[in-house]
Amino acid sequence: MSLPRPIRLITFEGSEGAGKSTQVRRLEARLRALGHRVLTVREPGGTLLGERLRALLKERTPELSICPEAELLLFLAARAQVVREAIEPALRNQSWVLSDRFSDSTLAYQGSGRGFPAPLLRSLNEIACAGLTPGMTFVLDISSAEGRARIARRAAAGASTDRMETEPPEFFERVRAAYRKLAESEPGRIVLIDASGSEEEIATRIWENVSRVFGL
Ligand code: TMP
Repeated sequence: MSLPRPIRLITFEGSEGAGKSTQVRRLEARLRALGHRVLTVREPGGTLLGERLRALLKERTPELSICPEAELLLFLAARAQVVREAIEPALRNQSWVLSDRFSDSTLAYQGSGRGFPAPLLRSLNEIACAGLTPGMTFVLDISSAEGRARIARRAAAGASTDRMETEPPEFFERVRAAYRKLAESEPGRIVLIDASGSEEEIATRIWENVSRVFGL
């Protein structure tokens, strides 16, 4: 697939509670206000198959056991589907695509979190993503203590806790460290954003980067 560069696929990454979804919505609104077509997806999800896999991956039923290998392949299956069914067609149709999580989540969670080797994950991502690399990725960086505090506040407000959120604090420390390392190793694509700032400040930093890199 030959697409204009940088590819108009922008992904949002970070630990739970970092505020990704809010920022995805804000960027979507800003691009739409300028008259752009925008497709927003979340991962896992974005297709019927992906949403069903998401429900399974998030479910907390004691009888439902998902070993790390099955978990890895389910995340990748959801990605393979959303890339082919939604993301590639939208990009070909001159739309922007914003994805709430993408390939870097697998490197951070299944790589540093679960311990799968990075080269293996990169090969699997290559298959799942059909070779597609985001034009820009924002990592919303938050301490794992603050992330957990935000999840606890959401739970107190009635949100259910999912399977991943029950992992111990060390798991989320490793995930955070992995994201920071990825940002260091790919400064041309990944922008690390301090997510402890206000929603407004974060949105402003994101927009500065998007408008500069994509020439808006
Ligand atoms: P979220 O949409 O609330 O961020 O939930 C998605 C969860 O799935 C989150 O705990 C991160 C996890 N995840 C992985 O472990 N690997 C992946 O490749 C993706 C996309 C998500």
